Amino acid sequence: MTKFIEEARVVGQRILNATTKQIDLIAPRIAAEAVPGQFVNVQVSNRTAPLLRRPLGIACVDKKYGAISLIYRIVGDATKILADVCSGDVLSIVGPLGHGFDLNAKHPLLVGGGTGLAPLWYLAQSMVDGGIRPDVLMGGRTADDLFWKDMYLDLVERMGLTTDDGSLGTPGTVMAELPLMLRRLHYDCVYVCGPVPMMKAVSAAVLEKGIKCQVSLEKYMGCGLGACLSCSCQGVGRRLKVCQDGPVFWAEEVVEW
Ligand SMILES: Cc1cc2nc3c(=O)[nH]c(=O)nc-3n(C[C@H](O)[C@H](O)[C@H](O)COP(=O)(O)OP(=O)(O)OC[C@H]3O[C@@H](n4cnc5c(N)ncnc54)[C@H](O)[C@@H]3O)c2cc1C
Ligand code: FES
Repeated sequence: MTKFIEEARVVGQRILNATTKQIDLIAPRIAAEAVPGQFVNVQVSNRTAPLLRRPLGIACVDKKYGAISLIYRIVGDATKILADVCSGDVLSIVGPLGHGFDLNAKHPLLVGGGTGLAPLWYLAQSMVDGGIRPDVLMGGRTADDLFWKDMYLDLVERMGLTTDDGSLGTPGTVMAELPLMLRRLHYDCVYVCGPVPMMKAVSAAVLEKGIKCQVSLEKYMGCGLGACLSCSCQGVGRRLKVCQDGPVFWAEEVVEW
């Protein structure tokens, strides 16, 4: 698959909650090629630190305007610098990287937590473009973490919400809702992206029902291009490079998360 280095012009940044922002970039070559589940590697500064580019999932694509959007949580040096970038600034980005989601489901359920809901957003948009409205189940610690519900509203058929503190939706993790949804509704594929414990629990429950399941893994990355092995994890009978073989895998392919 073709990858590009683009000098992407920032056309907007907006605050989504206290720790999360959306940045919109003009990157026509990446926008033209990107499929849901792929990511870009972003250089946030021309200085020596942070030295490495940072991987961020592609959250939205506007092919007509050659624009992509990234949604990121501010957690460390690179994302703090990114949060201060302004409209008109230029960022070097490499992409689209990795393999995306399987798009053949007829009755899909998307399950996400935290910034895992970013790549699932582009997946939901693509499914709707293809004439399929997915269901979504999203979990957060508090109601404030579920600002995503407004973004998904027009895209999905049914929406399940859970919060750890019970401030919105069903109290507990997504596992408080998932068994009921799997029992009542007949999904042919479940797509999961979020914290590792969530992906493990969800994929185990989904596979037990004999339903197909895809997971999107996040590992520390160096090159993002398959050369350094820093992102490797154990798959069935072989090491997997998350940047190149993934980040999306069939759940049963992954042995070590
Ligand atoms: C394929 C892929 C897609 C990603 N997509 C998104 C996205 O859409 N939105 C988003 O907010 N983040 C995403 N991430 C995670 C993002 O790359 C990191 O949060 C970012 O690199 C942190 O950089 P930093 O310098 O700000 O923080 P650092 O100082 O590098 O790290 C700060 C904290 O974040 C943790 N952390 C850093 N990188 C990772 C990682 N790869 N996996 C797990 N924990 C990590 C560290 O343990 C540390 O506690 C993705 C990661 C991968 C591999
Ligand atoms: S990040 Fe270098 S091989 Fe994956």
